This record gives sequence, C-alpha cells and structure tokens, in this order.
Amino acid sequence: MSDSTVGRRPFLKGALGSVALLAVPGRLFAIAGQPGSASAPLPDRYPPIIPGFPHILHGADWNPDQWLHEPSVIDEDLRLMEKSGCNTFSVGIFAWSTLEPAEGRFELAWLDDIMNRLAAKARYAFLATPSGAKPRWMSETYPEVRRVNRAGQRELHGSRHNHCFTSPVYREKVRIINAKLADRYKGHKALAGWHISNEYSGSCYCDHCLGAFRAWLQARYGSLEALNKAWWASFWSQTFQSWDQIDPRDSPVDGLNLDWDRFVTHQTVDFMRHEIAPLKAATPAIPVTTNMMSAFVGLDYWRFTDISDRMSWDAYPTLHGEDSWRSAVNLSFYHDLYRTMKGGLPFILMESTPSNTNWQQTPQIKKPGQHRQEMLLAIGHGADTTMYFQWRKSLGAAEKMHGAVVDHGEAERTRVFKDIADHGAFLRHLDAVVGTTVRPEVAVVQDWEVRWSLMYTQGPRQQSARGPFDKEYLQTCQDHYRPFWKLGVPVDVIESLSPFDPYELIVAPMLFMLKPGVADRLEAFVKAGGTLVLTYLSGIVDETALVLRGGWPGGGLRKLAGIWSEEIDALYPDSPQRIVPAAGSAFSMPGEHPVRDYCERVHPEGATVLATYKNDFYAGMPALTVNTYGAGRVYYLAARPAQDGFLDGFTRGLVSQLRLARCLDVELPEGVTMQKRAGGGRTFYFLHNFRRQDQVVDLGWTRLKDVSDGRVLTGRTTLAPFASFVLEKA
Ligand code: GLA
Ligand code: GLA
Repeated sequence: MSDSTVGRRPFLKGALGSVALLAVPGRLFAIAGQPGSASAPLPDRYPPIIPGFPHILHGADWNPDQWLHEPSVIDEDLRLMEKSGCNTFSVGIFAWSTLEPAEGRFELAWLDDIMNRLAAKARYAFLATPSGAKPRWMSETYPEVRRVNRAGQRELHGSRHNHCFTSPVYREKVRIINAKLADRYKGHKALAGWHISNEYSGSCYCDHCLGAFRAWLQARYGSLEALNKAWWASFWSQTFQSWDQIDPRDSPVDGLNLDWDRFVTHQTVDFMRHEIAPLKAATPAIPVTTNMMSAFVGLDYWRFTDISDRMSWDAYPTLHGEDSWRSAVNLSFYHDLYRTMKGGLPFILMESTPSNTNWQQTPQIKKPGQHRQEMLLAIGHGADTTMYFQWRKSLGAAEKMHGAVVDHGEAERTRVFKDIADHGAFLRHLDAVVGTTVRPEVAVVQDWEVRWSLMYTQGPRQQSARGPFDKEYLQTCQDHYRPFWKLGVPVDVIESLSPFDPYELIVAPMLFMLKPGVADRLEAFVKAGGTLVLTYLSGIVDETALVLRGGWPGGGLRKLAGIWSEEIDALYPDSPQRIVPAAGSAFSMPGEHPVRDYCERVHPEGATVLATYKNDFYAGMPALTVNTYGAGRVYYLAARPAQDGFLDGFTRGLVSQLRLARCLDVELPEGVTMQKRAGGGRTFYFLHNFRRQDQVVDLGWTRLKDVSDGRVLTGRTTLAPFASFVLEKA
C-alpha cells in the first residue's frame, strides 16, 4: 500500500507542525461531553486549580476529626506538613458524625480551627461534603436513608458509600449540611475546592429508587408499547402490562439491564447535582470535583463531566513484579481518560498510596524511585496534583495498615516520609508545567455503554481464559492503547459520543453498540480524511441492545469498512488459528500471529486484504482489511490477537503512514515511555524507565535538560531502574 495522502487530514496537520500546533491558540475543538461540533478556542494553557497558586498541588486525605481527643497529634501534623512539601489536604471526607453528632446539632468549631491553621500556613483544603458516610443517628431515625439490597432487605447501617441516592430525607440532610459548610467557609482563604462525597458507587432497590426508575423510563419511552418493543419483551413472555411490573432485579431482558445501569448513573449524577447546588449558591467560583475510580464499571463517568469543574480520580496501580510496566500502561490509559474527559483540562490525582495499599492481595511497598515515577507519570499525562490516601494512619479500623505519609512511629524518619518530602521539593521545579496539556492526534474509544451492552449479551462467547464478563472490552481497549504508549505517541481516551474531528486516527475496538449518530459521525470523520480502526464485534446492536440488521458491522459501518462479517467463531484457548500478513504488506508484522477468543469470517466488499487466516475451513479469508472511503481509510481487524506483536507492528505502521507525532522521534526500549505537555511557549518531556533493569535510549543529537538540576541528556543515555525525568530541550 502506498504512503499516499489518503488518511492525512490537511486541516490538522498540513499547515501546522504538530509541535507548533500545541502553541497555536484558536485551533477549534468541541467541548468534551457534548456530541457534535460546538466549537470554542482551545486554550494554550489552563489556569491553575487555585487562582494565584501556580504550583502542582501536593497533599493527602487528612482526617483530624479522628484525633480531636489528642490535639498534640494535630499540632504534630501541622509541623510535619511543613517538612513534607505538601500544600493541599482533603478534609472532612467521612466526618459527618463529628460535624453533626446529633440531628440538627452542628459542631464546626474544630473544622474552623483546622481551616484557620491551614490558611495561616498558606495551605489549602479540598473540603469534603460528608455524604460518603452517614451518621448512625440518621440510619436509626430515618431507615429510608439505608439502601435496600437485591433481595429486598433494608441494609443495616453498614460502613460507607451505602446511602440511598433517591431518599428525600437523605437529600435534605445533605442539602442542610452542605449549605452549612458552604456558608461557613465561603471566602475562607484555605478553601480551594469542594471534594464531593467520596467514590460514588452502587445502587439501591427501595420503592423511591424503583419509582424514580419507572418515571425515568416513562420519560424515555413515552409508552409501554414503545418500551416493550425496544426491549424485545415478547421474548419468553416478558411483556410488561404496567410500569409497576418493571423491576431491575427480575429481568432476563438485556434492554432493561442496560437501562438500569443508565438510570443508576443518571440518579447518581442527579444526587451529585443536588449536593453541588448549595455549594455553588454560596461559593460560585470554588471548583467542585468528585473522586472516581479508574474505569469503574458501575457508573458512566462521562455523564459527570458537565457538573464537575475538574475530573479527579484515585489511582491504586499494582506496579509490582517484573512486568509492572504493563500495569503502568493501564495506569496511563486512565490518566489519559481523565484528562480527555474535560477536553485536555489538567485533572486531579486525588488519591494514590505513598507506600502499600492494604486492600490489595499482595500490598508491596514501593521500591526506591517508584514513588516519584508514579507521580511524574500522572503529571506527564496531565495531572496538576499528586495527592495521597492518606496523610496519617488511623490507629484503628480498616485502614490502620494502609500506606500513609505519616506512619505510626518515627514520623519524618521513615523512608516513605523522605520520599514524599523529596517529591515535594522536586515539584518546586514544575511550576511552569501547571496548566499545560497534551493535544493528541490519536483517540482510543472506551465507552461505558458499549461495555455494558457486551456484558448483557450472551455470546458470541461467555468468558475468555482471562475471564471478565464484559468479554475483555476494557482490556481490549488497553491492548490497542499499549503500542502507542510503547512508541511514545500521545493518546486521548474518548467515548463514542465525543467529538471525532480533533483527531487523525480513531481506534474503536469492539464498538459493539452504536448509539444514535455515532456511525454518521464516524462516516463524516473518515470522509474528511480521518483514519478509523474497527475490530471484530462492531456495529452489532443499537442503543437498546437490539441487533442491527442488514449485515455486520451494522448501522452504516459496513460500507465504511468495505467488508461484510458473516459469522463470528469462538476459539478455544489453545486454538492453532493464526493471522498471516499478506505479502508486501506495508506493516512490519512479519511471521504468523496467534489469535484467541474471536474470529470473524469476513468478505471484502471493496476493501483490500492486508492479512488472512492460516487455518480451519476459513483459511485464506481476510483477517485484516483496509478500505478507502472519501479522503480517509477504515481498517477492520477480524480477530483478537493473542500477543503484543501483531498490534505493535500494525500500530507502528499506522503511526508512520499517518506521520503521527511521537513525543520525540526516538526509539524507546520495552518498559520505557515518554509523554509531553506543552503550553505557555514551553514543552516538557517526561521520560520513564518502568523496568527493573537499566535501559538505554538513544537520544541522538537531541539535547534534553533536566528541569530539576540542569543536567543534559543526549546521545546514548542509560536509564536506571525506575528512573523518571522531566526534561526540556536544551
Ligand atoms: C433450550 C430451550 C430453548 C433455547 C435453547 C438454546 O433447549 O428449550 O428455548 O433456549 O435451550 O440453546
Ligand atoms: C479509596 C477511598 C479512600 C481509601 C482508599 C484506600 O480510594 O476513597 O477513602 O479507603 O480507597 O486505598
């Protein structure tokens, strides 16, 4: 295949070099979370999270409410903060029973003291709304705030993250306490942001919730007739004769399950909006955020983007063992997701462990260098904070063995404390990084509703050797992301409703569900010169999980891809099936490539065959195709590669054909990656070795200066285990 101009999008790259592009204000983009084309000028550099405080925020969850009986500990904390280089603390996350020990009796003097002492030292608080853990008196007086489980039982008071998100009483109590906090601390010098609740999750099946679900369905479908049709409810005699019959716990209906997940997101967003209202009324300029959990399957996090001023998340990777660089890839994927969700706005790393994570099966402590590396990886992907769980270990309960900045003994003499303090000192060199961002040319689509639709579909196979019920959707997105990471090519992680036009290349693995308008927008993207990668299991169902007829990939993707996928085969783990690239392929993936789980029998309808199957009765049929459509191209991968080699070679080929910019034009050995942030006329390179051995990078003539000590890296450069650098061109 020739390296022609097909697939290049002149608007984006023709006139503007990719590096220059970053500094060009006025390039158009669509606001994240809004499908379509709403355009606004793209900021070159964003403001810092705290106006007038242009530093990377560094700090931790701090729970002085647990130590009010021992004020000397709080004094000690403030002394240690000075030494740690920490400047921002998440305060009061689970403090409701201290803030309101009895109904209507508010005791905020202790928090006044904490806020005042932070302000006196020019430190800041992400002040939490306490809804993540309700007080016992409330569970007792108002049982309705406790969730009803799937078995129909009202839960006991329980631990945390277990309130009913519909209960009018809970909402009212939250409104009152949030309004109190907002009124009390509006204008307070220490108030940097609102930390809304904590890690929203889960659902409730009480009458309030079921009623709200039914009302939501009525608004969505209008009539039972339409609902029954959308859910294909005549199957197994499921037809609903009244709205009251609808119960998400009792359903073999895919569409119902899917709508319940959508509703849980809707209701959680609604609850958060309710939490925010009294805060915005009193403190309109103070940013609100809620801390999320990687790609937590239970909530479609994209739906929170409009009501969050910043996205924030809690990262607990397992960077353990020889292969830990592979976990670093997935960690990077999540960082990219959180940056992408607000269109490139730097995100908040709200929690991470300074040492071990006690709930993990094998909570390893960090090896020397690993802490800084993990933090710089986050910053390299667009975090403007590095924050921890937790500042100080509690003496009792679930987290007394969880890593913390301050341990049970010897405070600043521990290795961990010194690591934190070193990192704090290092951050002083990164002020110019604050507000800069990444503008990738590549996007990988990872869409919650697509994942859910795969979960609720029986077949084409149930589980794989690796197990997950969602047919490894998330892992597959990460498999397609990994080769870009290895090459040091920046990537956005979008959803299928995100704007496509900022990108040259969109990789949409397993796009099983097509939401309304997605196929049309993909078509427009390709027509205008974009390159699209589709895979097996694409365009199979619509937004209510009904199958798209007329040949797969359906919904209009068939003509884009120029192929017809007739059948989907499921493979046993030891399948001998292989993909063999066609002779003369422009992609550097020589040899045979094992596949696993899925193989489609595909017929070209205009597409060129780039690779074929080796075995079985469909030997010789296409496994990888490319179709020219308008000014762009669509690749279709019909089987799941079992090893990295195939996607590595394929991706490298795409990057070179499309002349996609790597952060720097250097080869990176395995486990080494690079990121780039730019803005304000400066470009910062983040270079990391995630391996446990030295790795050598040949920087050629490029001279890169370490921002912390001015040391210049050039030519063949040895990176020690866990080495991480923040660099600028010298
Ligand atoms: C059983 C049932 C059928 C159908 C098939 C599917 O045989 O009787 O209704 O569900 O399984 O394999
Ligand atoms: C989550 C929670 C924190 C804490 C940590 C422990 O991220 O938000 O309160 O429990 O886990 O890893």
